Amino acid sequence: MNQQSGQVAVITGAASGIGRGLAEHAAKLGMRLVLADLDGVRLEALCAELRGGGAQVVACVTNVGDLEQVERLRDVALDRFGEVDLLFNNAGVMQTGYSWEITAQQWQRMLDVNLCGVINGIRCFVPLFLRQGRAAHVINTASLAGLLSSPLMAPYNVTKQAVVALSETLHYELSMLGAPVSVSVVCPGPVASEIMASNQVVDGAGSSFSQLLDSSIRQGMTPAELAEQVFAAIAEKRFWVFPHKGFKVALQQRVQSILEESNPQFNMSDVEENTHAAR
Ligand SMILES: NC(=O)c1ccc[n+]([C@@H]2O[C@H](COP(=O)([O-])OP(=O)(O)OC[C@H]3O[C@@H](n4cnc5c(N)ncnc54)[C@H](O)[C@@H]3O)[C@@H](O)[C@H]2O)c1
Repeated sequence: MNQQSGQVAVITGAASGIGRGLAEHAAKLGMRLVLADLDGVRLEALCAELRGGGAQVVACVTNVGDLEQVERLRDVALDRFGEVDLLFNNAGVMQTGYSWEITAQQWQRMLDVNLCGVINGIRCFVPLFLRQGRAAHVINTASLAGLLSSPLMAPYNVTKQAVVALSETLHYELSMLGAPVSVSVVCPGPVASEIMASNQVVDGAGSSFSQLLDSSIRQGMTPAELAEQVFAAIAEKRFWVFPHKGFKVALQQRVQSILEESNPQFNMSDVEENTHAAR
């Protein structure tokens, strides 16, 4: 899809980190923006900043886990701009800890935001894209965790692997229909953001692991660098967005282990090395 000034982009989780980077990049391209986040104060502050730079932006406080709120987000976008070209299902949260120690409520929050948020986005916007009958693009932020499991991140791994599966399925379905709607799934390693603030740390190994994760995220790729790669993939209608190239070795090893039916092995030093080397 050619990125044209005036295209309408809806971005969830836009008030911080990766979503903010996507919003700033889209504004630079001259896109009209509908920005959604749970945090209304930060969302309004970002919108004011982007409007100051000349962008047309509407803010819509939205909990992506709530279908009615995502329907409202679509309606706000249509009321304001009459059409939508790009949907970024980006909002997400973190939960670390041993799988069996994470509470039912914590599991549910991860499923609601990280998985149902994307399902709700697809259910609300894809029918609109099909009705519009012209080029449109769904971009789902999964994670490297969508392809490689780490210990102590079970709900994150589970929801992100589900987002990869959902994205691939959607891509096949739209191709089967010959619809002009493209799909991309973004699978980054560490990106400097505030995601660890959403982590409800539990006792046990979860807390020391979350410190390690926090440090790796702080030193990660910048959201602006990631946004460059995401918009390049959109321009090429490319499905896979795998920004941290150094992790491809670990992915290859995983596939090899599946094909050989050998037991999976996790190496924490791979994560530490690739945080820096993977760009
Ligand atoms: N930072 C990383 O290293 C990294 C790596 C891979 C993937 N991701 C994914 O990138 C996406 C963005 O995360 P980030 O790292 O920029 O984190 P972030 O915390 O900086 O930004 C996430 C934003 O989502 C919002 N949000 C949280 N719950 C919401 C909800 N229910 N409805 C609407 N908005 C909600 C938050 O308020 C926040 O503004 C997430 O899906 C995350 O899993 C992050």
